Amino acid sequence: MTTPSTNTSTVIRVRDLTKTYLLGQTRVRALRGVSLEIQRGEFVAIMGPSGSGKSTFMNLLGCLDRPSGGEYWLGGALVSKLTPDQLADIRNRRIGFIFQGFNLMGRATALKNVEIPMIYSGLQVAEQDRRARAALQMVGLGSRLHHKPAQLSGGQQQRVAIARALVNRPSLILADEPTGNLDTRTSVEIMAILQTLNARGMTVVLVTHETDIANYAQRQVTFRDGVIISDHPVADPRSARVELEQLMKQVVNAPANAPRAVMGAQPASGTPADDEDTAELLSAVATPPRALDDLEAIRREDAP
Ligand SMILES: Nc1ncnc2c1ncn2[C@@H]1O[C@H](COP(=O)(O)OP(=O)(O)OP(=O)(O)O)[C@@H](O)[C@H]1O
Ligand SMILES: [Mg+2]
Repeated sequence: MTTPSTNTSTVIRVRDLTKTYLLGQTRVRALRGVSLEIQRGEFVAIMGPSGSGKSTFMNLLGCLDRPSGGEYWLGGALVSKLTPDQLADIRNRRIGFIFQGFNLMGRATALKNVEIPMIYSGLQVAEQDRRARAALQMVGLGSRLHHKPAQLSGGQQQRVAIARALVNRPSLILADEPTGNLDTRTSVEIMAILQTLNARGMTVVLVTHETDIANYAQRQVTFRDGVIISDHPVADPRSARVELEQLMKQVVNAPANAPRAVMGAQPASGTPADDEDTAELLSAVATPPRALDDLEAIRREDAP
């Protein structure tokens, strides 16, 4: 066996990764030998048709499941050699998960939902509260702390889920179809947040079916039938923030009752309430995100 690269900027390195599910008598070969490296600070889109193994791969990257074969190094450590405690620690503290279905607790407020990952962190309650507020502010939901999921739009619910993924200050964000249930404009808002986090140094791996969404990433990796069939950089990634800013300019300049344009793959205009929400999000991501600075300050304070 060759040793893994000693390049310290490699966050993820997988070699010949396989995953076979047993479904009754049938063996489903979901991954058939995947090799890939992801460097710190990359923004990678994983694409491919339904059933090609994207979620299976993400679940392995997130240590939510074990491979059938092959090797996986995460931050230089061979995952199969980690103890269950070390794995749990990596999952909780180093990786933020975002799913298509949001997975929020319906009876809890946004604030409570975001505090959930900190329950076993040993942090003081006041500190948990402070971090949760900072994370919600970061995703433009500072004015909706006490709303429950049913009182929020789909995009806002996904932003709560992103805030929840941020509170333990992960260095790696894994997002599986985070815009799969959202309309175009709301999807662009989610991409604006992910691009901001990436610009602040987080590594982002995002699964998407949609080329439009994958064009916000810096690199596109395509799966088919459990293998990678292409892997290339994106020449000129789209900027979600710029697109939303342009949209808001149109909103400001348009006469109040003018028909609202739908700009193909560009973010479509919505109701005035949508516009207000987009404006709040934009100011959260456009001004240097003080809330996230807060989170980073905490990271420095309690670094060993
Ligand atoms: N728990 C499981 N048990 C058995 N087979 C599974 C399981 N999970 C996934 N599979 C199978 O593995 C293959 C890859 O599934 P996976 O969910 O990784 O695909 P995907 O690329 O994420 O698809 P989609 O775009 O529809 O989400 C599929 O054939 C699927 O049916
Ligand atoms: Mg999937």
